[in-house]
Amino acid sequence: MSTPRGQFSSKTGFIMAAAGSAVGLGNIWGFPTQTASNGGAAFVLVYLILAFALAYPALMAELTLGRHSRANTIDSLAAVAHRASTKFFGRAVGWYGLIVASLILSFYTVVAGWMLAYLFAPICQMLGMAELQQWLTSQSLARDLIFGGLFAGLTMAIIAGGVEAGIERWSSRLMPALIILLMLLIIYVLMQEGANEGLKLYLLPDLSQVTNPQLIVNAMGQAFFSLSLGVGTMMIYGSYLSKDDSLPRLGAIVTTVDVGIAFTAGLLIIPAMFVAQHHGATIYAEGGSLLAGPDLIFQVLPVLFDSMGAAGPFVALAFFGLMTIASLTSSISMLEVPVARAVERSELPRPTLTFIIGGIIFAISAVIIANFGQLFGLVVDFTTKYSQPILGIMLCIFAGWVMHRDRLLRELKEGHEDIEQTLFWKIWPIYVRFFCPALILLSFWQSL
Ligand code: TRP
Repeated sequence: MSTPRGQFSSKTGFIMAAAGSAVGLGNIWGFPTQTASNGGAAFVLVYLILAFALAYPALMAELTLGRHSRANTIDSLAAVAHRASTKFFGRAVGWYGLIVASLILSFYTVVAGWMLAYLFAPICQMLGMAELQQWLTSQSLARDLIFGGLFAGLTMAIIAGGVEAGIERWSSRLMPALIILLMLLIIYVLMQEGANEGLKLYLLPDLSQVTNPQLIVNAMGQAFFSLSLGVGTMMIYGSYLSKDDSLPRLGAIVTTVDVGIAFTAGLLIIPAMFVAQHHGATIYAEGGSLLAGPDLIFQVLPVLFDSMGAAGPFVALAFFGLMTIASLTSSISMLEVPVARAVERSELPRPTLTFIIGGIIFAISAVIIANFGQLFGLVVDFTTKYSQPILGIMLCIFAGWVMHRDRLLRELKEGHEDIEQTLFWKIWPIYVRFFCPALILLSFWQSL
């Protein structure tokens, strides 16, 4: 190993970084969108249950594995194994996770690039540069490449700084800004006419939907994506944690922040759709479901901003600023997965490795941009629909079966002396061995 391993300087630093990873487009865009297209509040309810009952235990598996081995994901998984065959398997799972993390980053960069372009648009509007504004908000190969590239550059610049000076510092700056922007936007939107109707849809569950298998599958996928699970991001962040901190507590805080912000973002997006409808936007698709996906963000919401007169560009600026910040604290956590491995295996300096790896991943983004119709959905499905659940099962197996009770206990005792007396320890070790893999498998099966 060439350089000493980085470490988060404090609990707060870790919470900012891990919550920053978790809170992303998945929360502010994905969650409200899924809610809108899965029967409103019924989805919210199922999601809340699954986030704590399934995603939190899986998050704990990653944090415990990572802090135990204190290495990149591939070497971590190999290190907990005793037998040669299990070691080989661990390495294979680590590599699979590393590739999936890189692919998620490659499509995430495309979407985050759109957010960045839309962030500059209201500035152009304020400066009276109508033509440029038009270009920024119209789809084109050049725009997507330039702004995707810009976003990839920002991600690399932060990761080149390392754990404390890069990840921790920027997450700690950006997360509070994100929360302030979110709150300001909610207050503003809820004061507009039409917002109440959205609130109702969002908060009153149609209980007949709660047992709909498709809804449960979607909620699980959403929870896994939102907590950045399966690919080793949380494992890597866990590996930078001090042995003085209680893992179950930190994991619970991160889960709560993630779920809380997803829920809060719904208070913004769904009412905003109905305010937009009040101003003439179409918010229902032909089949009668609420519009979701890019149409929601790039067509419905702009109607809303345009209706706001002089305040419009400022609100748009705040909204796309929020989106960009959320994306950036997540994208850095994905890039850290391959970079950590390279840094621990190569003599080259971290910045060089970061720009090489980040460059390769952006090249994949560029291929996706150039073949958007064929590739985007394919990459999203391969990574989030298929790979994340499979990897999630593997990591639970590694924590529950390979690391096993006594080593888990030793690791969890660090920073949490009386862990044996807690409800967590009474439930989790069995849970992560049997229930988590079975539940993930079951709903994965459903989705096929
Ligand atoms: N959780 C982030 C979001 O909600 C995205 C993310 C970051 C992610 N790291 C990840 C998703 C690793 C899957 C795997 O937007």
